[in-house]
Amino acid sequence: MDIRTIEWKKDAIKIIDQTLLPAELKYIYIKDLKTLWQAIKELKVRGAPALGAAAALGVYLGIAKSKAKDAGSFLKELDKVALYLAASRPTAKNLFWGIERMRSAALKNKYRHAQAIKIILFKEAQAIIEEDRVSCRAIGRLGAKLIKDNDTIMTVCNAGILATIDYGTALGVIYRAKEEGKRIKVFSCETRPLLQGARLTTWELSRKGVDVTANCDNMAATLMSQGKIDKVIAGADRIAANGDTANKIGTYSLAILARYHKIPFYIAAPAPTFDLSIKTGKDIPIEQRDPKEVSELFYKKPMITKGVKIYNPAFDVTPHELITAIITDKGIIRKPYKENIKRIIV
Ligand code: MRU
Repeated sequence: MDIRTIEWKKDAIKIIDQTLLPAELKYIYIKDLKTLWQAIKELKVRGAPALGAAAALGVYLGIAKSKAKDAGSFLKELDKVALYLAASRPTAKNLFWGIERMRSAALKNKYRHAQAIKIILFKEAQAIIEEDRVSCRAIGRLGAKLIKDNDTIMTVCNAGILATIDYGTALGVIYRAKEEGKRIKVFSCETRPLLQGARLTTWELSRKGVDVTANCDNMAATLMSQGKIDKVIAGADRIAANGDTANKIGTYSLAILARYHKIPFYIAAPAPTFDLSIKTGKDIPIEQRDPKEVSELFYKKPMITKGVKIYNPAFDVTPHELITAIITDKGIIRKPYKENIKRIIV
């Protein structure tokens, strides 16, 4: 069955409510900006490329009913919508890229009537969605060349269908390798605290007939030391100009473990995830989330004594030295990253 994470349907943004998975596959229709903001914050829709699409559709949703007659007041309304959406989550570059694409499409057409700009914006959001479908397949095609028959791949979080429109980045590589007839096994790290690996990655891989095993995050070293992992592939939320990569918390530990065990560690991401304005990973904003996600969200009773301080960053940064290659839709990028990223990502 084909799954589509996000699309425009019935005058609304249609998404899968990912907080209900794997127990329930429920689509919801979002008709106002505040509900979308909340859905992004609560990770009903999540994953960098899906956030880019949500932001683009969100900009359209936010101005679709605008009564502004002249372009000037219309663009002011659009800027307010853009600022509001930009405050939903801080790390994924795609979210800001999606907003910026929409803003510049509007600005380029500022001499047109507000009604005409609305139509242009709708088309721009659709183009962003279509581009993600194409670029994920390009990542899959290029990345699959690195995968051998009978490989076992470890992944973290969810960089699959549910994090994109309908194919995935890291998991796109796995889907493509499988389509090519390679026999692939996957270990999916559960990804504490929000369990995207346990809840989402195993859900979609098993639906797609991929042999997947769930492991707790702290089992990765043991699996690697037993020789059970051939490659690690993770997604990315933001990649700095030097290749340092922010992705789900726990990715950095996997990269260190992979280096120790001499296992290739790959990042898979489309061009809009790169932020060439940021020199190194130190400048990537890291989201801090509600401590309750650690202490109680998935437990029947709180698991941490009341009053104990809780540290809950949603992402970490993997230094570029630990990354074997970055699989992008424009090509596979290898060291030296600074030079090669500049050449390949424009
Ligand atoms: O907090 P999330 O679930 O939005 O985090 C998602 C990730 O870290 C993904 O690995 C990343 O966005 C890449 S998705 C193709």
